Amino acid sequence: MSSETVVSGMRPTGPLHLGNYFGALKTWLELQEETDCYFFIADWHALTTGYEEPEELGKNSREVLIDWLAAGLDPEKCVIFKQSDVPEHAELHLLLEMLTPESWLKRNPTYKAAREELGKNKTNNVGFLSYPVLQTADVLAHRGTKVPVGKDQKPHLEMGREIVRRFNHLYDADLPEMKALIRQTPQLQGLDGRKMSKSYKNCIYLSDSPTVREEKIMSAQTDSGPEPGARLPEEGPVANLFTLLELFGDNDVLSDYEEQYRAGEIQYGYMKQDIAAAMNSSLEEFDERRNELEESPKELNEILTSGCEKARASAASTLDIVREKMGLV
Ligand code: TRP
Repeated sequence: MSSETVVSGMRPTGPLHLGNYFGALKTWLELQEETDCYFFIADWHALTTGYEEPEELGKNSREVLIDWLAAGLDPEKCVIFKQSDVPEHAELHLLLEMLTPESWLKRNPTYKAAREELGKNKTNNVGFLSYPVLQTADVLAHRGTKVPVGKDQKPHLEMGREIVRRFNHLYDADLPEMKALIRQTPQLQGLDGRKMSKSYKNCIYLSDSPTVREEKIMSAQTDSGPEPGARLPEEGPVANLFTLLELFGDNDVLSDYEEQYRAGEIQYGYMKQDIAAAMNSSLEEFDERRNELEESPKELNEILTSGCEKARASAASTLDIVREKMGLV
């Protein structure tokens, strides 16, 4: 076992799509085999932008948990919990806020970008400004050293390191600085060739039925077809079909279609049928486990209860240090 401690979370904004699977979950599945891992449903983080719509939060958290478990995240191998079950994260957030300069938060590039995108009214709450401090608390609570995230999260991890450094400096402590583990995965796009995202309605969800997945693939955007001698596309919807085939299909089928594309003879309809079939057969086991979990609310509760206990114990030992260093004895 390596001495790294991995911590990561996902905001429960809806069921997981294939982009989430290949972008994040797949890395988590590998990490749980290698080292101590804490994976949590970041429901407080979801509230920083979704506080006006609390109705879906509980349901979304449950969907995310089922997706994780069906994909193979294993409570015997890693600690799985819900952020809001562990009040120590909130306490640490509060304490870290004491030493975090306001200017660091205001210059945070993801904060600025979100204000542009979501509007100033929607993002003028203190909780949203403080998002990276909460994220830092999430990681530091478990003395996390490695944080698998998408590259958009890099500024938050940088700020986390600065906050920990400031803490260590102010209080003569040696809490670990976290490092981002940025994933290098094939860029899977949505059905229209744009980033796969719930708000673009271009997603294939893990929880889609085989029929729905097939319908979605069959309706994916293409083009009028290549000329003979064409080079394989590097981006756009057709490139994305090749990525899907690469992720789910076998190599022979992939090179066959690449050949046909270069020869200007490809028929996207056939290619799509092969993609759908390969995808559905890869996800067969996932589908089975997901259906079982849907019927097992008791098991889901037990997993969260036991994850909560472990996460609270881990965070409590960090809080002992932090409280003591900050004079709270
Ligand atoms: N902000 C992360 C995201 O949107 C989710 C998250 C919350 C997280 N807390 C975290 C990720 C702690 C890593 C570590 O992807």
